[in-house]
Amino acid sequence: MTISKPVCKPLEVGFEIPLKDGERAQVRPISPADEAILLSAFEELSLETRAHRWLTPLSALPERMVYKLTHVDQHNHVAWGVAIPNGSGQRGIGVGRFVRLEDAPQKAEFALTVVDAYQGKRIGTFLLALLYRLAQHEGIATLRGIIAPDHRSMILWMKALGANVYHTPDGLVQADLSVETQPQLPNTRSAQRFGRIFDLIQAGDNVHPLQSHVAGLAQ
Ligand SMILES: CC(C)(COP(=O)(O)OP(=O)(O)OC[C@H]1O[C@@H](n2cnc3c(N)ncnc32)[C@H](O)[C@@H]1OP(=O)(O)O)[C@@H](O)C(=O)NCCC(=O)NCCS
Repeated sequence: MTISKPVCKPLEVGFEIPLKDGERAQVRPISPADEAILLSAFEELSLETRAHRWLTPLSALPERMVYKLTHVDQHNHVAWGVAIPNGSGQRGIGVGRFVRLEDAPQKAEFALTVVDAYQGKRIGTFLLALLYRLAQHEGIATLRGIIAPDHRSMILWMKALGANVYHTPDGLVQADLSVETQPQLPNTRSAQRFGRIFDLIQAGDNVHPLQSHVAGLAQ
C-alpha cells in the first residue's frame, strides 16, 4: 500500500481508493447534494441487504429519511459515502455513518452499507476504519453496531475485529467496538486487514498538503 500525490486534506475532503479491478472510487463526506445519489444507490440494494441495514426489508426510502441521511452535521451524525464516476455524475456504492447517542455522547451507533454488486471488495473495511478514525476525532469511545441475528457474516466479522458482541433482550445483536488512541486489535486476518487500512488513513492525516491516494486496498 502506498500514499502518494498530496492534494488535499483527507479527513475534510476525501480519499481516492483503487478497488480490486483497478476501478477508482472516491470516498468523501456526505452532503445535502447527495440526495439523488443516495436514492439511486438504495434502488441497487437487494432486499437482504436492506433488511441487514435497516432490520426490515424496506421497499422504499421515505423522503424524510433521505433528508435525515444526507443533512448531517459531521459531528453528532458523521456520514461518508463511496462513489464511482457515472457519465458526468457519480454512482453511490457505499455509505458509512455513525450517530452519537443522546444519552451517552461517548457512544455512537454505526451503520455500513455497500451495494450488492460491490460487496466483498473491502469497501466495508475501509469505511469502518474511516469511521473509527473519525470517531477518535469526535471523542467517541464506543462504536456500536446493531445487527440482525441472522446476519452471520457481520457478527463473525465484528468478533474477528475484537468487538464485544452480545444478544439484546429485543432479539437483536449488538457489537461494541472500543475506540482506542491506537486500535487494539486481536490477531485475526480481518483485524490485520483493518489495522493496515486504518494506518493508511491515519498516515493520510499527517501528509501536508494533505491527501492520500490509498493503493492496494485489496491486499
Ligand atoms: C456488511 C457490509 C457493509 C460489508 O461490506 P463489504 O464491502 O462487503 O465488506 P468487506 O469486503 O470489507 O469485508 C468485510 C467483512 O465482511 C464479510 N463479508 C463481506 N462480504 C461477504 C460475503 N459476500 N459473504 C460473507 N461475508 C462477507 C467478511 O467477513 C469480511 O471480513 P474479512 O476481513 O474476514 O474478509 C456489506 O456486506 C453490506 O452492506 N451488507 C448489508 C448491510 C449491512 O449488513 N450492514 C451492516 C449493518 S451495521
